[in-house]
Amino acid sequence: MTDRPGFASDNHAGVHREVLQAISAANEGHATSYGDDPWTARAMQRFREHFGPAARAFPVFNGTAANVLSIETLTQPWQAVICARTAHLHVDECGAPERAGRKLLVVDTPDGKLTPALVEPLLVRIGDEHAVQPRVVSIAESTELGTVYTPAQIEALATWAHSHGLLLHMDGSRLANAAASLGLPLRALTTDVGVDALSFGATKNGALGVEAVVLLRADIDDGLRFRRKQAMQLASKMRYMSAQLEALLEGDLWHRNAEHANAMARRLADAVSNLAGVRITQAVEANAVFAILDPAVTERLQQDWPFYVWDDSSGEVRWMTGWDTVPEDVDAFAADIRAAVR
Ligand SMILES: Cc1ncc(COP(=O)(O)O)c(C=O)c1O
Repeated sequence: MTDRPGFASDNHAGVHREVLQAISAANEGHATSYGDDPWTARAMQRFREHFGPAARAFPVFNGTAANVLSIETLTQPWQAVICARTAHLHVDECGAPERAGRKLLVVDTPDGKLTPALVEPLLVRIGDEHAVQPRVVSIAESTELGTVYTPAQIEALATWAHSHGLLLHMDGSRLANAAASLGLPLRALTTDVGVDALSFGATKNGALGVEAVVLLRADIDDGLRFRRKQAMQLASKMRYMSAQLEALLEGDLWHRNAEHANAMARRLADAVSNLAGVRITQAVEANAVFAILDPAVTERLQQDWPFYVWDDSSGEVRWMTGWDTVPEDVDAFAADIRAAVR
């Protein structure tokens, strides 16, 4: 890995200038700590505008905290969370959900997406005190495989979950990318289709470092304010976190950044999808491209371009684009891929 621009992660990008300006503008005088400040009040209002009047947002430092606090809030210790085997919650959070005492029940999927038919078989031994009780279905939008649920697909899961006494959580680390991809407002993929709680992602979308748990239903709370403090996620100088959220959500910055990242992934996929020696493995619907290459080709490319091997056994790699990916880098990378597979 090098520090040159590459395709390893949308978190390799820096902070968007407008977000930095918002942080700088917040750096005037004194403000009450722990969220009782005008920046946080305005950010909360932005969340209500985007997600509806019942939405309550709780800024936290990172996405793992947003996910773990979300599922803790939605469950009791004897209840379980159903997620895809590829879920960040399952494979990239170092067992933090389990450390919080919540069992994950994982499901294999072809494309990172859960469906009612895939989760239904896990609904067994309901009422049996010897078995963990499924309580939450957790989906990622967009998924860890760069695919995007449609509103109808999310609504089908929410309807199924609610009719079986379960709740729907969304890891929206890249919700902006999904919404931009479908040309829809944020609430069309969340509040309007039955999502109960959301981990809202901002960091990959150009923030310096802030995410939020967003409770979308007025009747869900279970002490989240207290849980956030116990989890060491309550920022004292919250104004700087809220200023970032406000910067993304007050105008169309969230959308501009996501749309650009998506367009760069599309550009890369279009440039290499016809090459013999490159097999795109997932629909390119957000800001990720997954492809299978000869490992020798991967090794050669990685000398110049940072990106990750996703699956050693198949040779599948992941190319991520971000809000700051430039077309010239995409084209130069595509040219190098073309030369390497020749
Ligand atoms: C799908 C998904 N969820 C959540 C996160 C957030 O994780 P972190 O705790 O690193 O902010 C990530 C980051 O890579 C992610 O890809």
